[in-house]
Amino acid sequence: MSEESPELEARLAEQDELEPAESFAEQANVSDPEIYDEFENEWPDCWRQAADLLDWETDYEQVLDDSNPPFYEWFTGGSLNASANCLDRHLSARGDEAAIEWIGEPVDEDNRTYSYEELHREVNEFAAGLREMGVEEDDVVTMYMPMVPELPIAMLACARIGAPHSVVFAGFSADALATRMNAADSEYLVVADGYYRRGEPLDHLGKANEGLSGVNHEVAATVVVDRLGPNNDDFGHGLTDNQYDYDAVVAGHSGAVVEPVDRDAEDMLFLMYTSGTTGQPKGVKHTTGGYLSWTAWTSQSVLDIKPDDTYFCSADIGWITGHSYIVYGPLALGTTSIMYEGTPDHPERDRLWEIVEDYGANQLYTAPTAIRAFMKWGTEYPDDHDLSSLRLLGTVGEPINPRAWQWYHQHIGDEECPIVDTWWQTETGGMMVTTLPGTKNMKPGSAGPSLPGVDAMVVDESGEPVGAGEAGYLTVEKPWPGMLRTLYRNDERFIEEYWEEYSDTDSDDPDDWVYFPEDGAKVDEDGYITVLGRVDDVINVSGHRLGTMEIESAIVDVEGVAESAVVGGNHEIKGEAVYAYAITEDGQEPSDSLRSQIESSVQDAIGPIARPERIVFSPDLPKTRSGKIMRRLLENIADGDKLGDTSTLRNPDIVQEIQQEATGDWSAERVSPPRQPHRYCDNLFCPPAVSII
Ligand code: PRX
Repeated sequence: MSEESPELEARLAEQDELEPAESFAEQANVSDPEIYDEFENEWPDCWRQAADLLDWETDYEQVLDDSNPPFYEWFTGGSLNASANCLDRHLSARGDEAAIEWIGEPVDEDNRTYSYEELHREVNEFAAGLREMGVEEDDVVTMYMPMVPELPIAMLACARIGAPHSVVFAGFSADALATRMNAADSEYLVVADGYYRRGEPLDHLGKANEGLSGVNHEVAATVVVDRLGPNNDDFGHGLTDNQYDYDAVVAGHSGAVVEPVDRDAEDMLFLMYTSGTTGQPKGVKHTTGGYLSWTAWTSQSVLDIKPDDTYFCSADIGWITGHSYIVYGPLALGTTSIMYEGTPDHPERDRLWEIVEDYGANQLYTAPTAIRAFMKWGTEYPDDHDLSSLRLLGTVGEPINPRAWQWYHQHIGDEECPIVDTWWQTETGGMMVTTLPGTKNMKPGSAGPSLPGVDAMVVDESGEPVGAGEAGYLTVEKPWPGMLRTLYRNDERFIEEYWEEYSDTDSDDPDDWVYFPEDGAKVDEDGYITVLGRVDDVINVSGHRLGTMEIESAIVDVEGVAESAVVGGNHEIKGEAVYAYAITEDGQEPSDSLRSQIESSVQDAIGPIARPERIVFSPDLPKTRSGKIMRRLLENIADGDKLGDTSTLRNPDIVQEIQQEATGDWSAERVSPPRQPHRYCDNLFCPPAVSII
């Protein structure tokens, strides 16, 4: 972690400290700084406070069972149902209040408000429908859906009957859907026929059907939500065998009441596939008691959500941010959660600000990549709207540069709203490192200290804490309730990926086990952590996590390509972008057609989000004597940075050659053919949009 980019140095140098406004602190859910000491002294019992935010069917006997690390269990002996916690228990006091405000992309159509009562009714009806189709407790139901209200309904319906869901981001490809259904042996799928992007209906069912043809076991039933109405006619998909219309399923179970199934605290609530070091996505397993307590507690203490709030998270539910902070956390607290289908620039670049104004949003939780785009578009868009309802702003998904932070603070928060820069991951279930906004100062560019009761540290290669200001590796030294429990059906990989690096894996003493999130970080003298980015083969494009190996394998699938290396290079808006180096086979000349084939192959294997920003053909890759590709050099080339010492390379001459090729390529439009718009969506916010997270 010794090498750093000039951008990062600038980011660190610019850090300033800001106190949250008193008006915020006075009303904050958490305003007593003693909470940090209290949680430390009472750990792990402090987490009863999180569990207390939920209704338990059976009280738990033990807060933490750490007898078999790293297979920790939380709230053991307890049982509960997530759907009952997000719906039923709010009915008497808040049944008429809005649970979900859904806003479709086309401006001229009716938006939908679901009160808690209405949401409860439809969740029950759909749960009854799923049961009738044969879904049983512990069957994995896959959802491949855009931002339509039927997605959270389907998730909660599954939770109600104890069937874990596995949501696949709608922007992922057909292949990605098939891989995930195969990995989970999932026999049920819920999809939508399409969705809208910048006014255009997009064909989603076609992609889903293509995915289904790659599933290697029988698919018992597919439920299709009719999002496009007559616009679907253009795509010509009817329902085939075992495909059911969502509205008909719900209507067929009108008024049904499904008793929420009592789930053990440790029973799986859902699976979420995410990218890792190898090509195969990892099935992150989250549980009912720990995960739900974690998302409820962090929503309350970090996002400062109160039941009367209207809260807006612009993520897509297809990623963990949407699971935790559009669906489970906010609904567990009984608040109103806004869901927006489209892009922030349709029909104009003020769409988000219009939503904030129209709905009186109290919190906005978005990604740095979106903020950088807003900055670029200019202040006239937010300035045109009354944003005074906002009380708190949040960011997630990638580091935020202080300039973007300041812009957000000034132009969206009117210098009144605190900003929480929240570091966490799919695996952590919810937030881990960030300020508690009513108790801590903010330092732009730094996420903040670990949350109370969370033990994040920055260590060197041997696991020793680094000094203030030094770079090292982020670790989490103690378990926490929201943590993943394992990788689905792969305990071995779970240990290898997250624990082996810093743990004594022969020990059964939990103190010898340390979680490694694979991020680099720095810590300052106040314990504020600045996350520097991934240290594994994962890149972060607009806050979307992508595995370089998955992209490389799609590139070498193209005939004529012998080898490939993919790295993340700096990008003004996206933070990082995909830069691909491809070596052609002997006799195969680099060409525009080969370039297009590579782009298509990546799109087909993963989705448009993974399409390379640039593709450089080169005769070889820079390799060490042991044959390892020097990715750092490739990153330097992509960023146009000065290169360090190349003398230890087996083939030092190649570097200059690649650099020349790259410089020509980077700048000369003639080499890069005009990019074809993708048939699903194509642009900066691609895919789903606001869901830049
Ligand atoms: O590298 C970190 C970055 O996003 C990664 C996790 O990605 P994912 O599992 O897709 O979850 C994204 C939403 C939680 C992390 O390993 N990351 C996330 N939040 C931040 C961040 N990097 C810097 N600052 C953050 N606030």
